[in-house]
Amino acid sequence: MTEKLWGGRFSEKPDEFLEEFTASVDYDVRLYREDIEGSIAHARMLGETGVITKKESREIIRGLRQILREIEKGEFVPSRKDEDIHMNVEKRLHEIIGDLAGKLHTGRSRNDQVATDLRLHAARAIEDLVGLLGELKRSLVEKAYEYRNVVMPEYTHLQRAQPVLFAHHLLAYVEMLERDEERFLQAKERTLVLPLGSAACTGTSFPLDREMVRKELGFRSVSKNSVDAVSDRDFVAEFLFCVSLTMIHLSRLCEELVLWMSEEFGFIDLPDSLCTGSSIMPQKKNPDMAELVRGKAGRAVGNLVALLTTLKGLPLSYNRDLQEDKEPFFDSLDTLRGSLRAVKLMIEGLSLNVERIRESLPGGYLTATDLAEYLVKKGVPFRKAHEVTGKIVRYAVEGGKALEDLTLEEFKKFSRLIEEDVYRVVDPEESVKGKDLPGGTSPRRVMRRLRELRRKR
Ligand code: ARG
Repeated sequence: MTEKLWGGRFSEKPDEFLEEFTASVDYDVRLYREDIEGSIAHARMLGETGVITKKESREIIRGLRQILREIEKGEFVPSRKDEDIHMNVEKRLHEIIGDLAGKLHTGRSRNDQVATDLRLHAARAIEDLVGLLGELKRSLVEKAYEYRNVVMPEYTHLQRAQPVLFAHHLLAYVEMLERDEERFLQAKERTLVLPLGSAACTGTSFPLDREMVRKELGFRSVSKNSVDAVSDRDFVAEFLFCVSLTMIHLSRLCEELVLWMSEEFGFIDLPDSLCTGSSIMPQKKNPDMAELVRGKAGRAVGNLVALLTTLKGLPLSYNRDLQEDKEPFFDSLDTLRGSLRAVKLMIEGLSLNVERIRESLPGGYLTATDLAEYLVKKGVPFRKAHEVTGKIVRYAVEGGKALEDLTLEEFKKFSRLIEEDVYRVVDPEESVKGKDLPGGTSPRRVMRRLRELRRKR
């Protein structure tokens, strides 16, 4: 056997730097399990269809199983000399079972092999990520439940807007993560299309039973076009997008944690064990973990853009450029995995400074909209009510007062319709209670959603 599995047509040894430059085994070694499972399924099918004998098939499978054990025990360490995980496994198989190893690659190319491996790996990675997403959702739901009675300011334009239940605000992130989960699971369905049988690009003259391989490996369907099957990396792009969007959701949550933990807000505290200090300023307690998740969101988006850019100008079918799909893939996978864990720890450890939040409620005219709606209920057209309330707010601002500090006489200067019951209307707790429609922040609605989410676990 030549030193390279493809060495037959070559009269020179490969340049050492070429070997180093083209090798992918440093990272695609992570596909070893899928690679071996794929080879086992292929070998079994070759035996069943009579392309090789059943005895040969069994021998090959035995060798492959041995390699799996060897890799898992660290006894066989794939080397860069053999380029990628696929060549490494085949090379090792030859060492174990001799020339019979050469029959494994019948009717197969690394082009359909690598696409198969990565699809299988991606589908499993999605399952794993969905599990972690579920855990984070649960911790958000539990934290929302723990502080279910806390009313805080909601913001638009980062300006104080209206009173909201803290639980309602936190559950907004649960809604995002629900969509992320659904998106990942839909992507998984499109990922589980089997390329094996497409060989290099046009299929093969051997009568392969693709359906049999599909069943053994747990794919949903077999690819319908061999050219597409070896050149398609849509599933990686989709995966990277799903990761990016999830990371962006986590990043927005982390931005709020950072903001809320600032002295200026002082809404939350994180445990010391989840914060870091400064090498110069002794007083500092920094939310670095939240900042890093926010930072890593950029890296996830970078990985998506990197792959899309790689794919953009590629002619069909397989091109070696496609090997560049793996580093972004693994990096995004690891990034999201770590970030989900980090955010879950922070959410679990987070405590609300309930007193401080309560103190932040008056004074910001958070219930001005409620006051306008109060006038509307007394027959004033909304635009007019908006204007009148605006004037009341201006008057209060100028006098350095909160809405609830105004006397009834002062209110009446702006509208005769305002009565004693206005003080209920400008109370933040009452404001929240009033938002009693589907999707609103009333305690009744929020509790209902909380119950629904807690039951789901
Ligand atoms: N390591 C390669 C990749 O990741 C495997 C396929 C190589 N195929 C080839 N014809 N050179 O894409």
